[in-house]
Amino acid sequence: MAYPLSRPEISPEDITAVNEVLKGPVLALGPRCEAFENAFAEYIGTTYAVAVNSGTSALHLAVRALDIGEGDEVITTPFSFVASANCMLFERAVPKFVDIDPETLNIDPSRISAAVTEKTKALLVVHVFGQPCDMKRIEEAAAEYDLAIIEDACEAIGATCGGVKVGTFGEAAAFGFYPNKQMTTGEGGMLVTDDGQIAELAASMRNQGRTRRSSWLEHERLGYNYRLDEMSAALGLSQLSRIDSILARRAQVAAWYRDALGEVPGIEPLAEIEGTTRSWFVYVALLEKGHTRSDVMELLENWGVACRAYFPPIHLQPLYRDLFGYKIGDFPVTEDIAGRTLALPLQFAREKRRRVHSRATRALHQVRRRRRGDNPTGRRICPEQFMRMISAARRTSTGGARIWWAARRRSRPRPAFRWASPNTSLKSSARSRCTRTRRPPT
Ligand SMILES: Cc1ncc(COP(=O)(O)O)c(C=O)c1O
Repeated sequence: MAYPLSRPEISPEDITAVNEVLKGPVLALGPRCEAFENAFAEYIGTTYAVAVNSGTSALHLAVRALDIGEGDEVITTPFSFVASANCMLFERAVPKFVDIDPETLNIDPSRISAAVTEKTKALLVVHVFGQPCDMKRIEEAAAEYDLAIIEDACEAIGATCGGVKVGTFGEAAAFGFYPNKQMTTGEGGMLVTDDGQIAELAASMRNQGRTRRSSWLEHERLGYNYRLDEMSAALGLSQLSRIDSILARRAQVAAWYRDALGEVPGIEPLAEIEGTTRSWFVYVALLEKGHTRSDVMELLENWGVACRAYFPPIHLQPLYRDLFGYKIGDFPVTEDIAGRTLALPLQFAREKRRRVHSRATRALHQVRRRRRGDNPTGRRICPEQFMRMISAARRTSTGGARIWWAARRRSRPRPAFRWASPNTSLKSSARSRCTRTRRPPT
């Protein structure tokens, strides 16, 4: 794919940092991991950080450290990556879904009360697409029903709510460093907390149940191998040292998208929520109701622009339908939003942005026109190819100029063109196959 949905920013310093580890004897459980944990805790503003091998592992350890177990209910969102609910299933606890707020796309705090039962033990909130949840109202609900809060901040490093970084609100929070995230360690994650006991438990469970006191073959509790290796930790440390500039660049690309797509009817950028700063994970736009997302996606993919329908609702995943009997209509806001989101690549290079933005805008325009019946032929060639055909046509004595000007007169009603297959030789297609047809009556 010419323009992938995400691409990690790896600098020469990152490569040097990883190479340095490889030159030494310690590839796991070494000083880089500890340095990364200290730097991360300082960046987020928590007392402790425990490095692990994925965001999912961090979520699982948070659930276990809070002693959430069989039959306990945890209130969470159905609009997220599946790991944020699976981490409850690992412990035979029950994710109790609550529909989302259509503005933030996060759990709707006003619906929490209705979902609380005597089995409810915690709230697991997800800062979806890097947008912080309404943490004031989440904290109020948690206090009212005496519930613990776990933050899934896997997509939200550096995001703030009321000037405070996400990850500092709950009893524990999870961050993820998969390569599609704002910063990466390859695979990797981090659990952060202010609670010394949670930190100690998590550190022990990630390392096969060993503790700082125990010998290598002594295991005090059930544990896992969720350790982060030294190469990943070195990469994380190096990436973290420039996280603010990475986030600023992503925000800049998001602003370009907002401007470019702002002119396209039928698409809304995500809402900007007062008192919060989003950390840009992917650029997601919302299509208007009835917009044919699959057509837009097909066009973009044909033009080399990766895109994704983020997120399919968790409750409609086959596993959740089987386990809990969920069906379409159970969480209507989530289902509506999930049917209209379109995630687009966050590219950094200035020269590439024009192409990605213009293709995205063009695809949206084109599908909308096709849907309204303005363009029944549906031109299915990429913009570059279109321009090459135009140039070829211009070189011929007849027809070229007409085509050129027709294509430029965007604001006025345009004749519909029927293009030859893109495989046809450009010259012959321009000269003879590019036939003008009458616009059908509306
Ligand atoms: C909201 C959310 N939670 C959890 C995860 C899981 O993180 P990981 O893939 O590092 O296990 C992800 C990953 O994409 C995520 O987006």
